[in-house]
Amino acid sequence: MRYSSIVEGIIMADRTIVTMPGDGIGRTVLNESLKLLEEVGFEAEYVEADIGWKFWQTEGNPLPDRTLDLLEKHRVALFGAITSKPKKEAAKELDPALRGKGFEYYSPIVGLRQHFDLDICIRPCKSFPGNPLNFIRRSGGADVDFFGEKQEKTEEFEEPEVDVVVFRQNTEGLYAGVEWTDPPTVVRGALETHTKMSKFNSIDGKDLAVSTRIFTREGCRRIVTEAFKYADKFGYDSVTICEKPNVIRETSGMMVEEARKVWEKYPKIDLWNTNIDAQMMWLTKNPEDYGVIVAGNMFGDIVSDAFAGLVGGLGFACSANIGKDCAIFEPTHGSAPKYEDLQPSIVNPIAMFMSACMMLDHLDETKKATAIRKAIAKVVTEGKIRTYDMMKIKGSEAALDKGAVSTSRMTQAVIDAIDTEALE
Ligand code: NAI
Ligand code: MG
Repeated sequence: MRYSSIVEGIIMADRTIVTMPGDGIGRTVLNESLKLLEEVGFEAEYVEADIGWKFWQTEGNPLPDRTLDLLEKHRVALFGAITSKPKKEAAKELDPALRGKGFEYYSPIVGLRQHFDLDICIRPCKSFPGNPLNFIRRSGGADVDFFGEKQEKTEEFEEPEVDVVVFRQNTEGLYAGVEWTDPPTVVRGALETHTKMSKFNSIDGKDLAVSTRIFTREGCRRIVTEAFKYADKFGYDSVTICEKPNVIRETSGMMVEEARKVWEKYPKIDLWNTNIDAQMMWLTKNPEDYGVIVAGNMFGDIVSDAFAGLVGGLGFACSANIGKDCAIFEPTHGSAPKYEDLQPSIVNPIAMFMSACMMLDHLDETKKATAIRKAIAKVVTEGKIRTYDMMKIKGSEAALDKGAVSTSRMTQAVIDAIDTEALE
């Protein structure tokens, strides 16, 4: 499996990587990934940028301008995770000196995606053979029959190889933020020109919430184009548009329409269409049948989490957010505040390692990325070193007594498994 700088036109100003640790375990896993990058001989300068809850509390802005400036300048970033809270809670935690001055919390991640137009989100979900968290299919049947009577059960199971790469449109659709409760009169008036609006016309404004799902042809074209290019480059047989065009006719319909146009250039690749609801069912029936999947913002969020669940979940799910001038690599998990203060840390750093590998590919350092992935595969398949999530036990200090390893022990195991000769 390889990833590479899929979006053309990104010019590296220099080899400076912006690191954004963020909150909670974000810093922990990011620091671990830097150890690994050093170990494979990745040469770069690092500059740390501020993002997250602390900066909301102290400055009223979780994404300070100085961070945007650094990203503007260096264009490539590794990001840990941030803590986000609902508006009211956020307001309560703001420095008292800043209250009442018009500061309003917003998600710095969505902020980054919008500011740099990081419209291409790539979320690979590939299983490491032998990962105890992998999706397995039983072929031996259950130990009780349909009526609950005991029956003999055979223990056979199969572990399908999942290798799916989700391309999620990252800036439009339901997450673009164009929404209202009690829409302004002009908006309501415009909506009421649609015949289907008539059943809502009598509803009081304060009882009416509208979140829009806006797709642009350009946005659809870009995500579909990048998905096909990727499938072509890395040998995937199919691109599946996962939307719902039979119901959400305009937006999903536009995505499908653009996909058909782009497909003309790729006759060797199959173009499939699935509906998001059916896809959620099929992915546990025949996950090995899918290759590249394309979806709008929300469906892409959903379907990528679902596939990630088949290959180990949050401890394994990596991602890239790529725009024309900037690329940010991050695990999909959050800041896991309940593990923030555990010493030593017990969280799984592999999702962050895999995100760092995506960055390496993006920078044409494929050999290093492959060496890290192979080392991770070796550790996972051997199964001797496992973080608590891989043992399916509760995360707590006690997990270490039960045989789980700490975050830094996992890093060391991966470092020890690196084939240094392959790097020469
Ligand atoms: P979360 O991803 O932080 O945690 C969900 C569950 O997975 C928890 O049980 C957590 O302990 C576990 N987990 C997460 N990462 C893990 C890892 N590397 N190894 C082992 N276990 C891991 O999501 P949650 O709890 O919903 O949110 C916590 C905070 O993170 C919230 O403030 C939320 O807004 C924020 N968040 C941030 C994201 C980001 O920065 N991209 C994404 C998702 C949530
Ligand atoms: Mg998600």
